[in-house]
Amino acid sequence: MPLSRKEFLKLAGTITVAAAVNTACSNDDQFDGSDFPADGGGGDTGDTAGEVVPSEAPIPPAFQARLPVPPVLSPTRTDATTDYYEITQRTAQAEILPGLQTTVWGYNGIFPGPTIEARSGRKVVVRQRNELSLPIAVHLHGGVTPPDSDGYPTDLVLPADGSFTAADVVAPDPTLSQGDKEYVYPLNQRAMTLWYHDHRMDFTGPQIYYGLAGFFILRDDEEDALPLPKGEREIPLMIADRSFNADGSFRYPALDPSLRGEHGVQGQFMTGVLGDVILVNGAPWPVLEVSNTRYRLRMLNASNTREYDLRLESDRGEGSFVQVGSDGGLLAGPVTHRNIKMAPAERFDVVVDFSQFPVGSQVVLRNARSSGRTAEVMRFDVVREEPDDSSVPDTLSTTLDLPDPAQAVATRRFDFFQLGEGDWSINGQLFDPDTILARPARGTTEIWEFSSDINHPVHVHLGHFRIFERGDTGDPRPWDVGLKDTVQLDPNGWARVAIRFTEFTGKYILHCHNLEHEDMGMMGNFEVT
Ligand code: C2O
Ligand code: CU
Ligand code: CU
Repeated sequence: MPLSRKEFLKLAGTITVAAAVNTACSNDDQFDGSDFPADGGGGDTGDTAGEVVPSEAPIPPAFQARLPVPPVLSPTRTDATTDYYEITQRTAQAEILPGLQTTVWGYNGIFPGPTIEARSGRKVVVRQRNELSLPIAVHLHGGVTPPDSDGYPTDLVLPADGSFTAADVVAPDPTLSQGDKEYVYPLNQRAMTLWYHDHRMDFTGPQIYYGLAGFFILRDDEEDALPLPKGEREIPLMIADRSFNADGSFRYPALDPSLRGEHGVQGQFMTGVLGDVILVNGAPWPVLEVSNTRYRLRMLNASNTREYDLRLESDRGEGSFVQVGSDGGLLAGPVTHRNIKMAPAERFDVVVDFSQFPVGSQVVLRNARSSGRTAEVMRFDVVREEPDDSSVPDTLSTTLDLPDPAQAVATRRFDFFQLGEGDWSINGQLFDPDTILARPARGTTEIWEFSSDINHPVHVHLGHFRIFERGDTGDPRPWDVGLKDTVQLDPNGWARVAIRFTEFTGKYILHCHNLEHEDMGMMGNFEVT
Protein backbone atom coordinates (compact mmCIF):
# COMPACT_ATOMS: atom_id res chain seq x y z
CA MET A 1 0.00 0.00 0.00
CA PRO A 2 1.43 3.40 -0.89
CA LEU A 3 2.20 5.74 2.00
CA SER A 4 -0.02 8.77 2.49
CA ARG A 5 1.76 12.10 2.35
CA LYS A 6 1.59 12.35 6.09
CA GLU A 7 3.03 8.91 6.71
CA PHE A 8 5.75 9.70 4.20
CA LEU A 9 6.56 12.94 6.02
CA LYS A 10 6.69 11.13 9.34
CA LEU A 11 9.08 8.57 7.92
CA ALA A 12 11.30 11.14 6.23
CA GLY A 13 11.22 13.14 9.46
CA THR A 14 12.39 10.23 11.60
CA ILE A 15 15.44 9.78 9.45
CA THR A 16 16.48 13.42 9.36
CA VAL A 17 15.73 14.00 13.05
CA ALA A 18 18.06 11.15 13.92
CA ALA A 19 20.77 12.72 11.76
CA ALA A 20 20.23 16.11 13.36
CA VAL A 21 20.40 14.75 16.91
CA ASN A 22 23.80 13.26 16.11
CA THR A 23 25.22 16.63 15.16
CA ALA A 24 23.56 18.17 18.22
CA CYS A 25 25.55 15.87 20.52
CA SER A 26 28.85 16.96 19.05
CA ASN A 27 27.98 20.62 18.84
CA ASP A 28 26.57 22.73 21.65
CA ASP A 29 25.40 25.39 19.25
CA GLN A 30 22.87 23.04 17.72
CA PHE A 31 19.33 23.29 18.90
CA ASP A 32 18.50 20.14 20.79
CA GLY A 33 15.10 20.94 22.23
CA SER A 34 15.21 18.43 25.08
CA ASP A 35 15.68 21.22 27.60
CA PHE A 36 12.35 22.91 26.95
CA PRO A 37 10.07 22.76 29.97
CA ALA A 38 6.92 20.81 29.25
CA ASP A 39 4.76 23.90 29.47
CA GLY A 40 6.96 25.80 27.05
CA GLY A 41 8.23 28.06 29.80
CA GLY A 42 4.80 29.46 30.52
CA GLY A 43 4.91 33.20 30.49
CA ASP A 44 2.90 36.11 29.48
CA THR A 45 0.84 34.91 26.60
CA GLY A 46 -2.28 36.87 27.50
CA ASP A 47 -5.00 36.03 25.03
CA THR A 48 -2.61 35.53 22.15
CA ALA A 49 -2.11 31.98 20.85
CA GLY A 50 1.18 30.20 21.32
CA GLU A 51 3.76 29.32 23.95
CA VAL A 52 6.85 31.25 24.93
CA VAL A 53 10.17 29.68 23.97
CA PRO A 54 12.46 30.74 26.81
CA SER A 55 15.77 32.27 25.72
CA GLU A 56 18.94 30.75 27.12
CA ALA A 57 21.05 33.77 26.28
CA PRO A 58 20.94 36.67 28.73
CA ILE A 59 18.17 39.04 27.71
CA PRO A 60 19.44 42.61 27.52
CA PRO A 61 17.76 45.53 29.26
CA ALA A 62 15.29 47.45 27.14
CA PHE A 63 16.02 50.74 25.39
CA GLN A 64 19.79 50.31 24.95
CA ALA A 65 19.90 49.89 21.16
CA ARG A 66 19.17 52.59 18.60
CA LEU A 67 16.41 51.84 16.13
CA PRO A 68 17.99 50.60 12.89
CA VAL A 69 16.26 51.41 9.62
CA PRO A 70 16.76 48.86 6.84
CA PRO A 71 18.69 50.24 3.83
CA VAL A 72 16.79 50.97 0.63
CA LEU A 73 17.96 48.71 -2.17
CA SER A 74 19.13 50.28 -5.44
CA PRO A 75 18.03 48.71 -8.69
CA THR A 76 20.80 47.11 -10.72
CA ARG A 77 19.22 48.57 -13.85
CA THR A 78 16.11 50.41 -14.93
CA ASP A 79 14.39 50.94 -18.26
CA ALA A 80 11.29 52.77 -19.45
CA THR A 81 8.85 50.42 -17.71
CA THR A 82 10.77 48.37 -15.17
CA ASP A 83 13.19 48.46 -12.25
CA TYR A 84 15.40 45.38 -11.89
CA TYR A 85 16.77 44.21 -8.53
CA GLU A 86 19.03 41.41 -7.40
CA ILE A 87 18.93 39.83 -3.97
CA THR A 88 21.10 37.04 -2.64
CA GLN A 89 19.75 34.98 0.22
CA ARG A 90 22.60 33.93 2.45
CA THR A 91 23.62 33.48 6.05
CA ALA A 92 25.54 36.19 7.88
CA GLN A 93 26.37 37.14 11.44
CA ALA A 94 24.56 39.97 13.20
CA GLU A 95 25.02 41.36 16.70
CA ILE A 96 21.40 41.40 17.85
CA LEU A 97 22.11 40.75 21.52
CA PRO A 98 25.08 42.70 22.88
CA GLY A 99 28.31 40.68 22.71
CA LEU A 100 26.76 37.70 20.90
CA GLN A 101 26.60 36.78 17.24
CA THR A 102 23.40 35.54 15.66
CA THR A 103 23.40 33.72 12.35
CA VAL A 104 20.64 35.25 10.29
CA TRP A 105 19.25 33.96 7.02
CA GLY A 106 19.02 37.25 5.27
CA TYR A 107 18.01 38.79 2.00
CA ASN A 108 21.48 40.09 1.10
CA GLY A 109 22.52 38.69 4.48
CA ILE A 110 20.57 41.18 6.62
CA PHE A 111 17.48 41.04 8.83
CA PRO A 112 15.21 42.78 8.04
CA GLY A 113 16.10 42.50 4.36
CA PRO A 114 16.73 45.64 2.31
CA THR A 115 13.66 47.75 1.61
CA ILE A 116 12.46 47.91 -1.97
CA GLU A 117 10.78 51.19 -2.90
CA ALA A 118 8.53 50.98 -5.95
CA ARG A 119 6.11 53.15 -7.97
CA SER A 120 2.58 52.11 -8.67
CA GLY A 121 2.28 51.17 -12.38
CA ARG A 122 6.02 50.54 -12.80
CA LYS A 123 7.07 46.94 -13.00
CA VAL A 124 9.61 45.51 -10.58
CA VAL A 125 11.65 42.40 -11.39
CA VAL A 126 13.61 40.80 -8.55
CA ARG A 127 16.16 38.10 -9.24
CA GLN A 128 16.42 36.04 -6.06
CA ARG A 129 19.54 33.92 -5.72
CA ASN A 130 19.52 31.14 -3.12
CA GLU A 131 22.88 30.73 -1.38
CA LEU A 132 21.25 29.10 1.64
CA SER A 133 21.23 25.34 2.00
CA LEU A 134 17.46 24.79 1.84
CA PRO A 135 14.78 25.55 -0.75
CA ILE A 136 13.09 28.94 -0.66
CA ALA A 137 10.02 30.61 -2.16
CA VAL A 138 9.51 34.38 -2.05
CA HIS A 139 6.07 35.91 -1.63
CA LEU A 140 5.28 39.61 -1.98
CA HIS A 141 2.60 39.98 0.69
CA GLY A 142 -0.07 42.42 -0.49
CA GLY A 143 0.99 42.11 -4.11
CA VAL A 144 -1.38 41.73 -7.05
CA THR A 145 0.99 39.33 -8.72
CA PRO A 146 0.70 36.68 -11.45
CA PRO A 147 0.64 33.12 -10.05
CA ASP A 148 4.11 32.12 -11.22
CA SER A 149 5.69 35.02 -9.30
CA ASP A 150 3.51 34.80 -6.18
CA GLY A 151 5.80 32.47 -4.26
CA TYR A 152 3.46 29.50 -4.32
CA PRO A 153 4.69 27.18 -1.52
CA THR A 154 5.80 24.41 -3.90
CA ASP A 155 7.27 26.83 -6.48
CA LEU A 156 10.73 26.44 -5.00
CA VAL A 157 14.20 27.76 -5.68
CA LEU A 158 16.79 25.13 -4.82
CA PRO A 159 20.15 26.16 -3.34
CA ALA A 160 22.76 27.25 -5.85
CA ASP A 161 25.37 24.97 -4.28
CA GLY A 162 23.39 21.79 -4.91
CA SER A 163 23.20 20.94 -1.20
CA PHE A 164 19.48 20.21 -1.56
CA THR A 165 18.38 18.60 -4.78
CA ALA A 166 15.08 17.82 -6.50
CA ALA A 167 15.24 14.35 -4.93
CA ASP A 168 15.27 15.90 -1.45
CA VAL A 169 12.06 17.88 -1.97
CA VAL A 170 9.14 16.55 0.06
CA ALA A 171 6.20 18.10 -1.77
CA PRO A 172 3.83 16.83 -4.44
CA ASP A 173 4.57 18.03 -8.01
CA PRO A 174 6.83 20.93 -7.13
CA THR A 175 7.96 23.55 -9.65
CA LEU A 176 11.71 23.83 -9.19
CA SER A 177 14.24 26.47 -10.14
CA GLN A 178 17.93 25.81 -9.68
CA GLY A 179 19.88 28.50 -7.81
CA ASP A 180 17.83 31.54 -8.73
CA LYS A 181 14.51 32.77 -9.99
CA GLU A 182 13.17 36.01 -11.41
CA TYR A 183 10.01 37.29 -9.73
CA VAL A 184 7.95 39.73 -11.80
CA TYR A 185 5.70 42.25 -10.03
CA PRO A 186 3.46 44.31 -12.35
CA LEU A 187 2.30 46.54 -9.43
CA ASN A 188 -0.84 47.89 -11.06
CA GLN A 189 -2.13 48.65 -7.59
CA ARG A 190 -2.37 51.62 -5.26
CA ALA A 191 0.33 52.78 -2.85
CA MET A 192 0.69 50.58 0.22
CA THR A 193 3.14 48.97 2.63
CA LEU A 194 3.88 45.46 1.42
CA TRP A 195 6.46 43.03 2.65
CA TYR A 196 8.32 40.16 1.09
CA HIS A 197 9.04 36.97 2.96
CA ASP A 198 9.73 33.28 2.62
CA HIS A 199 6.85 30.92 1.80
CA ARG A 200 8.39 27.45 1.50
CA MET A 201 5.76 24.76 2.06
CA ASP A 202 5.87 23.32 5.61
CA PHE A 203 8.86 25.47 6.66
CA THR A 204 7.78 29.10 6.39
CA GLY A 205 7.76 29.48 10.19
CA PRO A 206 11.44 28.71 10.79
CA GLN A 207 12.62 30.39 7.58
CA ILE A 208 11.00 33.71 8.42
CA TYR A 209 12.08 33.31 12.05
CA TYR A 210 15.72 33.00 10.93
CA GLY A 211 15.37 36.29 9.08
CA LEU A 212 13.76 36.03 5.65
CA ALA A 213 11.51 39.12 5.70
CA GLY A 214 11.79 42.65 4.32
CA PHE A 215 9.74 45.74 3.49
CA PHE A 216 8.44 46.62 0.04
CA ILE A 217 6.99 50.12 -0.06
CA LEU A 218 4.83 51.04 -3.00
CA ARG A 219 4.20 54.74 -3.66
CA ASP A 220 1.95 56.67 -6.03
CA ASP A 221 1.16 60.25 -7.04
CA GLU A 222 -1.94 60.55 -4.87
CA GLU A 223 0.03 59.69 -1.75
CA ASP A 224 3.05 61.81 -2.71
CA ALA A 225 0.80 64.87 -2.99
CA LEU A 226 -0.30 64.57 0.65
CA PRO A 227 1.39 66.69 3.35
CA LEU A 228 2.10 63.62 5.52
CA PRO A 229 5.49 63.39 7.26
CA LYS A 230 8.24 62.33 4.83
CA GLY A 231 11.93 61.57 4.63
CA GLU A 232 13.51 61.06 8.06
CA ARG A 233 10.05 61.28 9.60
CA GLU A 234 8.63 58.37 7.68
CA ILE A 235 9.85 55.14 9.24
CA PRO A 236 9.02 51.47 8.69
CA LEU A 237 8.82 49.41 11.90
CA MET A 238 9.06 45.64 11.59
CA ILE A 239 7.98 44.22 14.93
CA ALA A 240 8.95 40.59 15.54
CA ASP A 241 9.55 38.50 18.66
CA ARG A 242 12.44 36.04 18.81
CA SER A 243 14.21 33.83 21.36
CA PHE A 244 17.89 32.98 21.52
CA ASN A 245 20.12 30.04 22.40
CA ALA A 246 23.01 30.63 24.80
CA ASP A 247 25.41 31.15 21.89
CA GLY A 248 23.22 33.89 20.40
CA SER A 249 21.62 31.78 17.67
CA PHE A 250 17.88 32.00 17.12
CA ARG A 251 15.99 29.44 19.20
CA TYR A 252 13.17 27.78 17.27
CA PRO A 253 11.58 24.53 18.47
CA ALA A 254 11.37 22.74 15.11
CA LEU A 255 10.51 19.05 15.29
CA ASP A 256 13.23 18.52 12.70
CA PRO A 257 15.97 21.12 13.18
CA SER A 258 17.49 20.23 9.81
CA LEU A 259 14.28 21.56 8.18
CA ARG A 260 14.60 18.87 5.55
CA GLY A 261 12.00 16.29 6.47
CA GLU A 262 9.30 16.60 9.09
CA HIS A 263 7.56 19.95 9.34
CA GLY A 264 6.06 21.66 12.36
CA VAL A 265 7.10 22.30 15.93
CA GLN A 266 7.35 20.33 19.16
CA GLY A 267 3.98 19.52 20.72
CA GLN A 268 3.76 22.24 23.33
CA PHE A 269 4.40 24.90 20.68
CA MET A 270 1.75 23.58 18.35
CA THR A 271 -0.45 26.64 18.88
CA GLY A 272 2.45 28.88 17.91
CA VAL A 273 5.94 30.06 18.80
CA LEU A 274 6.35 33.17 20.95
CA GLY A 275 9.73 34.79 21.53
CA ASP A 276 10.68 36.53 24.77
CA VAL A 277 12.68 39.30 23.07
CA ILE A 278 10.85 41.97 21.07
CA LEU A 279 12.80 43.15 18.04
CA VAL A 280 11.98 46.22 15.99
CA ASN A 281 13.85 46.32 12.67
CA GLY A 282 16.06 43.58 14.11
CA ALA A 283 17.08 45.35 17.35
CA PRO A 284 15.84 44.46 20.85
CA TRP A 285 13.51 47.09 22.35
CA PRO A 286 15.21 49.94 20.48
CA VAL A 287 14.98 53.68 21.01
CA LEU A 288 14.32 56.35 18.39
CA GLU A 289 15.09 59.96 19.20
CA VAL A 290 12.42 62.21 17.72
CA SER A 291 11.59 65.90 17.60
CA ASN A 292 8.26 67.21 18.86
CA THR A 293 6.72 66.81 15.39
CA ARG A 294 4.63 64.34 13.43
CA TYR A 295 6.14 61.04 12.32
CA ARG A 296 4.65 58.52 9.95
CA LEU A 297 5.20 54.98 11.21
CA ARG A 298 4.56 52.06 8.88
CA MET A 299 4.07 49.30 11.42
CA LEU A 300 4.27 45.65 10.40
CA ASN A 301 3.77 42.64 12.65
CA ALA A 302 6.30 40.13 11.28
CA SER A 303 6.02 37.82 14.31
CA ASN A 304 5.25 34.16 13.75
CA THR A 305 2.37 34.08 16.25
CA ARG A 306 2.39 37.04 18.62
CA GLU A 307 -0.47 39.54 18.54
CA TYR A 308 0.00 43.02 19.95
CA ASP A 309 -2.28 45.62 21.47
CA LEU A 310 -0.25 48.75 20.85
CA ARG A 311 -0.45 51.89 22.93
CA LEU A 312 1.72 54.96 23.45
CA GLU A 313 2.50 55.67 27.08
CA SER A 314 4.69 58.23 28.80
CA ASP A 315 4.94 59.30 32.41
CA ARG A 316 2.85 62.31 31.35
CA GLY A 317 0.00 60.23 30.04
CA GLU A 318 -1.17 58.19 27.09
CA GLY A 319 -0.87 59.28 23.49
CA SER A 320 -2.83 58.51 20.35
CA PHE A 321 -2.23 57.17 16.87
CA VAL A 322 -3.78 58.72 13.77
CA GLN A 323 -4.27 55.85 11.37
CA VAL A 324 -3.84 56.91 7.74
CA GLY A 325 -3.53 53.52 6.08
CA SER A 326 -4.03 49.79 6.52
CA ASP A 327 -2.81 46.66 4.69
CA GLY A 328 -4.12 47.90 1.36
CA GLY A 329 -2.99 51.53 1.50
CA LEU A 330 -4.48 54.90 2.40
CA LEU A 331 -7.81 55.22 4.16
CA ALA A 332 -10.42 57.65 2.80
CA GLY A 333 -9.78 59.76 5.89
CA PRO A 334 -7.78 59.50 9.12
CA VAL A 335 -9.04 57.60 12.18
CA THR A 336 -7.68 58.30 15.68
CA HIS A 337 -7.04 55.40 18.06
CA ARG A 338 -5.86 55.00 21.66
CA ASN A 339 -4.86 51.45 20.87
CA ILE A 340 -4.46 49.23 17.84
CA LYS A 341 -4.53 45.45 17.92
CA MET A 342 -2.16 43.99 15.39
CA ALA A 343 -2.02 40.34 14.37
CA PRO A 344 0.79 38.70 12.37
CA ALA A 345 1.18 40.13 8.83
CA GLU A 346 -1.07 43.15 9.43
CA ARG A 347 0.25 46.60 8.59
CA PHE A 348 -0.89 49.81 10.19
CA ASP A 349 0.22 53.12 8.72
CA VAL A 350 -0.05 55.70 11.48
CA VAL A 351 0.97 59.28 12.15
CA VAL A 352 2.08 60.03 15.71
CA ASP A 353 2.26 63.68 16.66
CA PHE A 354 5.01 63.84 19.26
CA SER A 355 4.04 67.42 20.10
CA GLN A 356 1.35 65.77 22.25
CA PHE A 357 4.25 65.05 24.65
CA PRO A 358 6.53 67.73 26.14
CA VAL A 359 10.16 67.77 25.04
CA GLY A 360 12.05 65.46 27.42
CA SER A 361 9.33 62.80 27.39
CA GLN A 362 10.08 59.15 26.94
CA VAL A 363 7.20 57.53 25.10
CA VAL A 364 6.99 53.76 25.26
CA LEU A 365 5.24 51.79 22.55
CA ARG A 366 3.51 49.25 24.78
CA ASN A 367 1.88 45.94 24.11
CA ALA A 368 -1.12 45.71 26.43
CA ARG A 369 -1.71 42.16 25.26
CA SER A 370 1.25 40.95 27.28
CA SER A 371 2.92 41.46 30.65
CA GLY A 372 6.55 41.45 31.71
CA ARG A 373 9.28 42.14 29.18
CA THR A 374 7.12 41.52 26.13
CA ALA A 375 4.71 44.24 27.24
CA GLU A 376 7.22 46.74 25.85
CA VAL A 377 8.10 47.15 22.17
CA MET A 378 10.29 50.23 21.74
CA ARG A 379 10.68 53.80 23.00
CA PHE A 380 10.52 57.22 21.39
CA ASP A 381 12.53 59.90 23.17
CA VAL A 382 11.27 63.40 22.40
CA VAL A 383 14.60 65.21 22.52
CA ARG A 384 14.18 68.45 20.58
CA GLU A 385 11.89 71.08 19.18
CA GLU A 386 11.64 71.46 15.45
CA PRO A 387 9.29 73.18 13.02
CA ASP A 388 6.69 70.88 11.46
CA ASP A 389 5.16 71.59 8.08
CA SER A 390 3.43 68.21 7.85
CA SER A 391 -0.25 67.64 8.51
CA VAL A 392 -2.91 64.97 8.22
CA PRO A 393 -5.67 66.16 5.89
CA ASP A 394 -9.30 65.14 6.42
CA THR A 395 -9.34 63.54 2.99
CA LEU A 396 -6.50 61.13 2.36
CA SER A 397 -7.70 59.26 -0.70
CA THR A 398 -10.44 59.75 -3.27
CA THR A 399 -9.53 56.54 -5.12
CA LEU A 400 -10.23 54.03 -2.35
CA ASP A 401 -12.69 51.59 -3.91
CA LEU A 402 -13.89 49.20 -1.23
CA PRO A 403 -15.62 46.00 -2.37
CA ASP A 404 -19.35 46.27 -1.62
CA PRO A 405 -21.07 43.26 0.01
CA ALA A 406 -24.32 44.28 -1.71
CA GLN A 407 -22.64 43.47 -5.05
CA ALA A 408 -21.57 39.98 -3.99
CA VAL A 409 -22.33 37.17 -6.43
CA ALA A 410 -21.38 34.35 -4.03
CA THR A 411 -20.85 33.66 -0.33
CA ARG A 412 -18.28 31.16 0.86
CA ARG A 413 -17.32 29.95 4.25
CA PHE A 414 -13.88 28.99 5.53
CA ASP A 415 -13.64 27.51 9.02
CA PHE A 416 -10.21 27.58 10.61
CA PHE A 417 -9.90 24.85 13.23
CA GLN A 418 -7.63 22.22 14.68
CA LEU A 419 -8.16 18.77 13.27
CA GLY A 420 -5.86 16.81 15.58
CA GLU A 421 -2.43 16.84 17.16
CA GLY A 422 -0.22 18.95 14.90
CA ASP A 423 -2.91 19.35 12.25
CA TRP A 424 -4.52 22.71 11.56
CA SER A 425 -7.22 22.80 8.93
CA ILE A 426 -9.43 24.97 6.78
CA ASN A 427 -12.87 23.37 6.53
CA GLY A 428 -11.40 20.18 7.94
CA GLN A 429 -8.79 19.88 5.16
CA LEU A 430 -5.03 20.04 5.51
CA PHE A 431 -3.10 21.86 2.81
CA ASP A 432 -2.87 19.90 -0.38
CA PRO A 433 -1.59 21.67 -3.50
CA ASP A 434 -4.07 19.74 -5.63
CA THR A 435 -7.28 20.59 -3.78
CA ILE A 436 -9.13 23.76 -4.78
CA LEU A 437 -11.44 25.14 -2.08
CA ALA A 438 -13.06 27.90 -4.15
CA ARG A 439 -13.26 29.18 -7.74
CA PRO A 440 -14.16 32.87 -7.70
CA ALA A 441 -14.54 34.63 -11.06
CA ARG A 442 -12.16 37.45 -11.83
CA GLY A 443 -13.71 40.90 -11.50
CA THR A 444 -16.62 39.82 -9.31
CA THR A 445 -17.18 40.54 -5.62
CA GLU A 446 -17.80 37.74 -3.13
CA ILE A 447 -18.52 37.52 0.58
CA TRP A 448 -16.08 35.30 2.41
CA GLU A 449 -16.88 34.29 5.96
CA PHE A 450 -14.06 33.15 8.22
CA SER A 451 -14.53 31.43 11.58
CA SER A 452 -12.03 30.23 14.16
CA ASP A 453 -11.56 27.92 17.13
CA ILE A 454 -8.58 29.81 18.62
CA ASN A 455 -6.83 32.97 17.38
CA HIS A 456 -6.15 32.86 13.66
CA PRO A 457 -4.94 35.75 11.50
CA VAL A 458 -6.44 34.89 8.12
CA HIS A 459 -4.63 36.08 5.00
CA VAL A 460 -5.74 35.91 1.36
CA HIS A 461 -3.30 36.29 -1.51
CA LEU A 462 -4.07 38.47 -4.56
CA GLY A 463 -7.41 39.98 -3.43
CA HIS A 464 -7.86 42.82 -1.00
CA PHE A 465 -11.01 42.97 1.09
CA ARG A 466 -13.21 45.03 3.34
CA ILE A 467 -14.18 43.71 6.77
CA PHE A 468 -17.86 44.56 7.15
CA GLU A 469 -19.09 42.35 9.99
CA ARG A 470 -17.58 40.77 13.10
CA GLY A 471 -18.68 37.98 15.39
CA ASP A 472 -18.26 39.72 18.73
CA THR A 473 -20.28 42.91 18.43
CA GLY A 474 -21.33 42.58 14.82
CA ASP A 475 -19.43 45.76 14.02
CA PRO A 476 -15.93 45.82 12.67
CA ARG A 477 -13.28 47.05 15.08
CA PRO A 478 -12.19 50.70 14.82
CA TRP A 479 -8.92 49.69 13.12
CA ASP A 480 -10.58 47.25 10.66
CA VAL A 481 -10.92 50.18 8.26
CA GLY A 482 -9.78 50.44 4.65
CA LEU A 483 -8.56 47.69 2.37
CA LYS A 484 -7.19 44.65 4.14
CA ASP A 485 -5.46 41.42 3.20
CA THR A 486 -5.28 39.93 6.70
CA VAL A 487 -8.02 39.73 9.33
CA GLN A 488 -7.46 38.72 12.95
CA LEU A 489 -9.94 36.32 14.53
CA ASP A 490 -10.29 35.83 18.27
CA PRO A 491 -11.15 32.42 19.75
CA ASN A 492 -14.59 31.40 18.49
CA GLY A 493 -14.59 34.53 16.37
CA TRP A 494 -15.83 35.17 12.89
CA ALA A 495 -15.65 37.92 10.36
CA ARG A 496 -17.32 38.55 7.04
CA VAL A 497 -15.41 40.32 4.33
CA ALA A 498 -16.24 41.54 0.83
CA ILE A 499 -13.43 40.52 -1.50
CA ARG A 500 -12.62 41.10 -5.16
CA PHE A 501 -9.98 39.53 -7.38
CA THR A 502 -8.73 41.52 -10.32
CA GLU A 503 -6.11 41.31 -13.05
CA PHE A 504 -4.94 37.69 -12.80
CA THR A 505 -6.46 34.24 -13.01
CA GLY A 506 -4.92 31.07 -11.65
CA LYS A 507 -4.20 29.24 -8.45
CA TYR A 508 -3.52 31.20 -5.25
CA ILE A 509 -3.67 30.46 -1.55
CA LEU A 510 -5.35 31.64 1.58
CA HIS A 511 -3.98 30.64 4.95
CA CYS A 512 -3.55 31.36 8.59
CA HIS A 513 -0.61 33.73 9.06
CA ASN A 514 0.21 32.16 12.39
CA LEU A 515 3.21 30.55 10.73
CA GLU A 516 3.17 27.41 12.85
CA HIS A 517 -0.48 26.81 11.91
CA GLU A 518 0.33 27.53 8.28
CA ASP A 519 3.18 25.01 8.29
CA MET A 520 0.98 22.41 9.95
CA GLY A 521 -1.70 22.46 7.28
CA MET A 522 -3.81 25.61 7.68
CA MET A 523 -3.63 26.69 4.06
CA GLY A 524 -5.83 26.13 1.04
CA ASN A 525 -6.05 26.94 -2.65
CA PHE A 526 -8.52 29.01 -4.56
CA GLU A 527 -8.50 29.41 -8.29
CA VAL A 528 -9.52 32.66 -9.93
CA THR A 529 -11.26 31.80 -13.19
CU1 C2O B 1 2.48 36.93 4.22
CU2 C2O B 1 0.93 33.82 2.16
O1 C2O B 1 1.76 35.32 3.22
CU1 CU C 1 0.21 37.28 0.83
CU1 CU D 1 -4.03 29.96 12.90
